[in-house]
Amino acid sequence: MLGIMKRFDGQTAFITGAGGYIGGTTARMLASEGAKVAVCDITKENCERTVSDIIAAGGTAIAVPADVTDSASVEAAVAKAVEAFGGLDIMVHVAGGSARADSKRLADQSDEVILRVLGVNLLGGIWASRAAARVMREHGRERGGRIINISSLVAFNGLRGSVDYAASKGGIIAMTKALAKEMGEYGVTVNSVAPGVVQRPGTGADDSDYALKTNFLGKKCEATDIAETILFLCSDAARFVTGQTWVVDGGRGLGMKGSD
Ligand SMILES: NC(=O)c1ccc[n+]([C@@H]2O[C@H](COP(=O)([O-])OP(=O)(O)OC[C@H]3O[C@@H](n4cnc5c(N)ncnc54)[C@H](O)[C@@H]3O)[C@@H](O)[C@H]2O)c1
Repeated sequence: MLGIMKRFDGQTAFITGAGGYIGGTTARMLASEGAKVAVCDITKENCERTVSDIIAAGGTAIAVPADVTDSASVEAAVAKAVEAFGGLDIMVHVAGGSARADSKRLADQSDEVILRVLGVNLLGGIWASRAAARVMREHGRERGGRIINISSLVAFNGLRGSVDYAASKGGIIAMTKALAKEMGEYGVTVNSVAPGVVQRPGTGADDSDYALKTNFLGKKCEATDIAETILFLCSDAARFVTGQTWVVDGGRGLGMKGSD
């Protein structure tokens, strides 16, 4: 009997923030479509949750913990993935977030928080993208690769109390364009995905209608909505898409203050 080919059969994926909501969902969905997934998050425990889910569902995954703010740590994690699975086809940098409870207007914000937010969101993306680019350019054009970073609608529209976050996510968009130009000749596409408000279980957003109010579709954005776009960009169907940032926000970015 002929086996059914899955979209990412035989491919290796390295996902940062893969112990979290969007990263974990992306890792599980890529694995369910045949990818061998290197699950990267800051602690081994964070990685293990996603790894066990994938293995329980019959997929292939290993934990490659790393602090994405540390380039050597990211290089070592990518090297482990390459050694375990052979090469690297997909890198998705999802680790990050706003300063959350520590969010403040820039005039009141501390060096420590600003450096933390830029470190995880932007430098983390640069380190992970560089590590992936180094492996992928060695593959040759035939195999190529996919590099995807997570931006945010905040990069386009700004948000009070999140200047550091907006700058880090805007940096991701700029990096995506420049790296796409560098990596095209190696058959590697580079894109980013900019979510609006994504319902994260167990957070305040769960208890309010904030996630409903912040889009024009009248439903909550789930991690799967973001992961589906990531999977499309990773797939062969998106082979001619590069240097782009795909907004997945239920129309939130269309809002015109005071007159929607
Ligand atoms: N949830 C939203 O509404 C939303 C909206 C726009 C953009 N985003 C972006 O999507 C991404 C994922 O968000 P989420 O909602 O899944 O958050 P999440 O908190 O569930 O996941 C983030 C993960 O990153 C990991 N992480 C943090 N610092 C790290 C470090 N130094 N090294 C390695 N891993 C680290 C965390 O441990 C966590 O597992 C973030 O980049 C975030 O900015 C989220």
